[in-house]
Amino acid sequence: MSNVKQAMDVYLDGLRNQHAVEMQAVGTIQNEMPRMEPYPDLYAKMKADHERSVTQAARLDDLLAKHGSSKSVIKQAVTGAVATVAGFIHVGADDEVLKNVLAAIGYKAYEISSYKVLLVLADAAGAGDDKPTLEQSMKEEQEMGDWLGSNLPNLVQAYLGWKSA
Ligand SMILES: [Fe+2]
Repeated sequence: MSNVKQAMDVYLDGLRNQHAVEMQAVGTIQNEMPRMEPYPDLYAKMKADHERSVTQAARLDDLLAKHGSSKSVIKQAVTGAVATVAGFIHVGADDEVLKNVLAAIGYKAYEISSYKVLLVLADAAGAGDDKPTLEQSMKEEQEMGDWLGSNLPNLVQAYLGWKSA
């Protein structure tokens, strides 16, 4: 097996994993959104992030198809179950919104890093053409991560106001 072929296998596996990561994000956001309505800014951002995650997953699907591969159905089913658990883990917690936002910041950091990994793998696999697509998704993750990070103080204040209301 040539190094490039080996790198392609690793890259394709990475694309499949990232697809599962995006689908987990979709599931988690879906679970959390109904209870985030008291925080309109956060709610709007989560809605946009949900739509973007669906698009990002579709982009990964397209890249996999382009390389004659497909996403792993089994892996997706397993991750879907994890998403359900992850989405409900903070339900009922008094400070659910804060826990959700902290978890989302961590998740965004993971997503940004995993797109970085994919960019290196794309080069190694001779799939440099894929990079603008991956970079677009990475940029979107960065934007959401930045928004969450810079709005964290506001969200804490909104939470405190909500509690005393
Ligand atoms: Fe995403």
